[in-house]
Amino acid sequence: MFEQLTTLSPDPLLGLIKRFAQDPRPEKIDLGVGVYRDDSGQTPVLAAVKAAESQLLQSESSKSYVGPAGNLEFCSAMAELLFGRDLSAKLQARVASLQTPGGCGALRVLGETIVRANQKARLWASDPTWANHLPLLGSAGLQINNYRYYDFAGHGLDFDGMMSDLQQAQAGDVLLLHACCHNPSGADLNQQQWQQVIELCQQQNLVPLIDVAYLGFGDGLDEDAYGLRLAVERLPEVLIAVSCSKNFGLYRERVGAAFVISENAASAQACFSHMASITRAMYSMPPSHGASVVAAILDDETLAQQWLSELTQMRERIQSLRSQLRQSLADELGHDRFAFIEAEKGMFSFLGLDADQVQRLAEDFGIYMADSSRINLAGLNSGNLAHLVSSLKLML
Ligand code: LMR
Repeated sequence: MFEQLTTLSPDPLLGLIKRFAQDPRPEKIDLGVGVYRDDSGQTPVLAAVKAAESQLLQSESSKSYVGPAGNLEFCSAMAELLFGRDLSAKLQARVASLQTPGGCGALRVLGETIVRANQKARLWASDPTWANHLPLLGSAGLQINNYRYYDFAGHGLDFDGMMSDLQQAQAGDVLLLHACCHNPSGADLNQQQWQQVIELCQQQNLVPLIDVAYLGFGDGLDEDAYGLRLAVERLPEVLIAVSCSKNFGLYRERVGAAFVISENAASAQACFSHMASITRAMYSMPPSHGASVVAAILDDETLAQQWLSELTQMRERIQSLRSQLRQSLADELGHDRFAFIEAEKGMFSFLGLDADQVQRLAEDFGIYMADSSRINLAGLNSGNLAHLVSSLKLML
């Protein structure tokens, strides 16, 4: 039967990893896949993670199944991180949550849950959005529409375009939002814009699906949770997909969680039963290790403080790279065309290059980025920033 299959080209982002690895030039720079790197270009295991892992090695007494919801301490620790202690306690009966293999697992489980609840629901995704949102949520059977979000010419949010496109959304449609550090643009909603978006959801009966992949990478843990907290305070139904890949540096451990906040306890219970039956049919149960590490960190005051300070270091390094890149480009080019880079949040920004320029940067200078010219700022460091700036100067 397999003669029926033709070979697909690799996923564009994951394909970049291979192209970069095959490039022999020592000055090459990887600004592709969204993985945090330190100034030496490494993606280290956080010290808080190492400490929690060595505790677990001593204390873990069984490798028996964790159950469909995964690690319950992890789920409630994630709820406190997302909603804060008071709101989390207030919401409790309305929340259905389960641990998932990464944020991708959460998105897929939530996509399937939406389809079970409302086969007519359409999903509205920002244009652009993270490339994998479309296959993850589309494969669940959701019809996907786009709303304007990023104005490439103006290098900023097209909020009027967004609000105007969303007028066409119908009651019961799902609105995909990025909690913070919008991937791929780095352009986030401000607090006032979040309020307007939540009001629009109230008026039109839309259900937000909030992807929380970079909590703590924007302005801070509480600051980055502003929009999602407002949504769960004001709206009867909210879906949330969380990833611990970036903020805990646990990429390969696949740690995430899916949350459904519904109107009441009965409906939360029904949602949970569907989420559990969806995961049972897909992968049965989540893996244990990464979620146990996160639970152990958040449950221990000292480890939690250590993690917070490591998260702060990662955030501040990215913010400082944003300022350095803007400044170096302004100095070299003699104009401030890239000022927007400093104002954007999280790991990504678009350089605003066309596909030809992106290809030339890879071929002529060994600088790799997504075709859209999205760069991962964390791929820059004190040894390679000047190479990017001088290469851009030659090209622009
Ligand atoms: C990215 O956007 O580069 C990351 O989220 C990694 C991925 O899986 O695409």
